[in-house]
Amino acid sequence: MIYTLAVTHGGNALRQASAWRTYRACIISLLVVLSVCGAAAWFYMFSVESDITETLVKQSELVSSQPRVFTVQCSEDYENYKRYPRCTPQSCGRAVTDSVVTKDEAQVLRRLAERGLALAGSEGGASILDLHSGALSMGKQFVNIYRYFGDVIKDVFTEQDFQLYRAVRGRIQEVIAETFGLDPALMYLTKPTFFSRINSTAAKTQHDEYWHPHIDKVTYGSFDYTSLLYLSDYGSDFGGGRFIFMDQTGNRTVEPRTGRVSFFSSGSENLHRVEQVMWGTRYAITVSFTCDPEHAISDPALP
Ligand SMILES: *[C@@H]1O[C@H](CO)[C@@H](O)[C@H](O)[C@H]1NC(C)=O
Ligand SMILES: *[C@@H]1O[C@H](CO)[C@@H](O)[C@H](O)[C@H]1NC(C)=O
Repeated sequence: MIYTLAVTHGGNALRQASAWRTYRACIISLLVVLSVCGAAAWFYMFSVESDITETLVKQSELVSSQPRVFTVQCSEDYENYKRYPRCTPQSCGRAVTDSVVTKDEAQVLRRLAERGLALAGSEGGASILDLHSGALSMGKQFVNIYRYFGDVIKDVFTEQDFQLYRAVRGRIQEVIAETFGLDPALMYLTKPTFFSRINSTAAKTQHDEYWHPHIDKVTYGSFDYTSLLYLSDYGSDFGGGRFIFMDQTGNRTVEPRTGRVSFFSSGSENLHRVEQVMWGTRYAITVSFTCDPEHAISDPALP
């Protein structure tokens, strides 16, 4: 009996050992398949959508106290325009700071953007909301929120939202002036200055194609300094969507981080593009400045 049991038991052990070998083989094959797929996906992500030579500032870094500045030689673009002493770029470059806007302030602005953009939005993956002109993406075009939604707007945005927006705009202007040695009183906000929301939905019109390389001074003649305030995090809120300076010597990227301000002189020395967003949603504000008082716009205010 005991013996039989032992034999039976021994038989089970043999069968179990053989089952285990089969099971182990399956697991190993599965792991091999998974690693091959993983490697392929990795290769795809980092070869197709990135020709990055250098990361200027990573999402995980915190640029506190002083902005991190990268100087570049000014292009000749500014020569085609009237020059304004103590404002027109004479030294050019790009800079990044995480100490001008707090994370809390950026989150308040992000919620403002979410509420505003929830009123409509583009059919493609890229929507904008311009509080100055009132322009909001809707389907394949734009509407004026102040006219289209009338009094409803007062329930969407509060006076405090606009105060914060103005305060943040003022601080960005100060840091640009300080970094480039300008008189902030001689710089003016210009258009377009707007919120953007981008996800991976395919573009439906040209307005959705944010990824093309461009030069702000060429696209919008009035721009002298461009800044971007990021309202979400690269790598956790969205993938792709990095900002890329396209230099002749290589592509240099700034990874978005909530509350991070990136700013640069607007001429050809700062040819740039935004990488396509692969997943998640990317929020940012573009705040633009001109030296030409004729192109000045005023801060937004509730109607
Ligand atoms: C992108 O955002 C729009 C608007 O919120 C939404 O309808 C669409 O499903 C989103 N696409 C993806 C891929 O999440
Ligand atoms: C920079 O990026 C562009 C477009 O993504 C690519 O065509 C070009 O080869 C890249 N340049 C370098 C030096 O990697």
